Amino acid sequence: MTPEERAAALQALEAEVRNCTRCRLCETRTHAVPGEGPVTATIMFIGEGPGFNEDRQGRPFVGAAGRLLTELLMRIGLLREDVYITNVVKCRPPNNRDPQPDEIRACKPYLVRQLRLIDPEVIITLGRFAMERWIPNARITKVHGQGFLYGHRLIVPMFHPAAALHKPHWRPQLEEDFDRLPALIDRARLVRSGQMSATEAGITLLKPPSTPEEPTQLDLFGGSSSSGGNG
Ligand code: URA
Ligand code: SF4
Repeated sequence: MTPEERAAALQALEAEVRNCTRCRLCETRTHAVPGEGPVTATIMFIGEGPGFNEDRQGRPFVGAAGRLLTELLMRIGLLREDVYITNVVKCRPPNNRDPQPDEIRACKPYLVRQLRLIDPEVIITLGRFAMERWIPNARITKVHGQGFLYGHRLIVPMFHPAAALHKPHWRPQLEEDFDRLPALIDRARLVRSGQMSATEAGITLLKPPSTPEEPTQLDLFGGSSSSGGNG
């Protein structure tokens, strides 16, 4: 697909999400929040689910956690517009409760399709629910800021910005994890090109999934997305 075709497909996907009724969260949402950013983004952030402000505006990370995310991005010379930002569930869970397993499952095909279209080099998971997709059973307090290679993709679990606002002692760690990100991305590139070992780079290799996360282009519209992908 050309970049233009990918952009159009991403737009169509975002429109689909805005009308989605695949799980109960559609009944209580004001606006679904598909995500935003360029289809050419090399870094993708995945949060948990829209909060109050996101539900009002239909845009991800626009409240207090979003302001912190924008500040963190600026520390490493990035603008919000440079990255793709989305969530595990695209509609707000009532009273910001945790998303339930069946809701995460229902919404998963959208994330899988976003991953295929954007094909980011780096995924930053914000909080537990996004992390669990790639690194199940890990403790965020132990693995935050570390690099994991999942096929060609670098996965970096981080604390959720809302958690850092709630527990101020986590904030310096979140800032430090961001500050270390550019060097980590550089090392991951060296590992991918065979110029550095994963051990040397301090990067953990994850076992690739039995069902590939990104099937070939031919599978893109094959409708297998609900069963495809990992986790
Ligand atoms: N928290 C999230 O996980 N996602 C948002 O979009 C906003 C707050
Ligand atoms: Fe659809 Fe996801 Fe919203 Fe559920 S949370 S209604 S699956 S977009």
